[in-house]
Amino acid sequence: MTGDLQFDAQGRLRHFLTIEGLSRQTILEILDTAESFMTVGQRAIKKVPLLRGKTVVNLFFESSTRTRTTFEIAAKRLSADVINITPGISSTTKGETLLDTVQSLTAMHTDLFVVRHSLSGAAHLIAGHVPPHVHIINAGDGAHAHPTQAMLDVFTIRRYKKSFENLRVAIVGDILNSRVARSLIHALSILGVPEVRVIAPQTLMPTAIEKLGVHPYNDMHGGLEGADVVMMLRLQRERMRGALIPSEQEYFNLYGLTPDKLKAAKKDAIVMHPGPMNRGLEIDSTVADGPQSVILAQITNGIAVRMAIMALIMGGRKESAARKRRA
Ligand code: NCD
Repeated sequence: MTGDLQFDAQGRLRHFLTIEGLSRQTILEILDTAESFMTVGQRAIKKVPLLRGKTVVNLFFESSTRTRTTFEIAAKRLSADVINITPGISSTTKGETLLDTVQSLTAMHTDLFVVRHSLSGAAHLIAGHVPPHVHIINAGDGAHAHPTQAMLDVFTIRRYKKSFENLRVAIVGDILNSRVARSLIHALSILGVPEVRVIAPQTLMPTAIEKLGVHPYNDMHGGLEGADVVMMLRLQRERMRGALIPSEQEYFNLYGLTPDKLKAAKKDAIVMHPGPMNRGLEIDSTVADGPQSVILAQITNGIAVRMAIMALIMGGRKESAARKRRA
């Protein structure tokens, strides 16, 4: 699955499907644009007119709280109209195919689809079949990618750590089934973060993960040592076939982030989690609610980052102007 489909003939970003294939400049441009949107949420009237008259469709075939809601808020803060399609009560339950559902919705002159699906490649499939004026954002496809989550994660890291140079980032937990980990690893690598570690029991570690340029660890102490950023992941039990962990208690004992284990990281390390959290399984409440946790900031930041991505792919002008300036 390549990211080529993301760009139009002029090389402008048209869809947002995967982090792979994005340039460092594009990623930084999104982060800078998001920074400029951060104050919109604090205004008395939380709106800018950028997407006025546009219709955004949230098409979520998998459950979601944070991602779906922050996309809806982001679109509304850009003055777009937003429709939420809930597959449980739509025609997909009557056997309609994914592409027929999308085709029916594009016949209503909609402009942007935010798609979450349990099948890897679902957003790419849709992007390959929509008319040229329609945009697609991948809000998570199977275990493959979750590119807007990666963008809000690197945005949060930059806000707390100021730059990506000299950083040691540790990603902990169910690496095998995590689309969040995969997209984040790509983003950190494009941004030039010098050291990315992944920590997991061998059963949750993808084979040949080193090929992505990360350092694998099976133990928390070694992996967390000197880390600036600790990203915890949820155990994706819905994607596990068979028992990949001995017992929840043993998993928590070995890999659950407790204040004691966190001591191995730097004193000023930040703790992140994309949510939803399993307290007492991958993270202890004392850490989740503690002074090093930026978990709620990630959610707030997600709105500005999603606003920036929507504005960039639908505005077009910004990116081409930036390209001209660089040329
Ligand atoms: C993640 C997801 O859905 O991939 N959550 C999110 O988007 N906030 C991670 C997860 O489900 O564990």
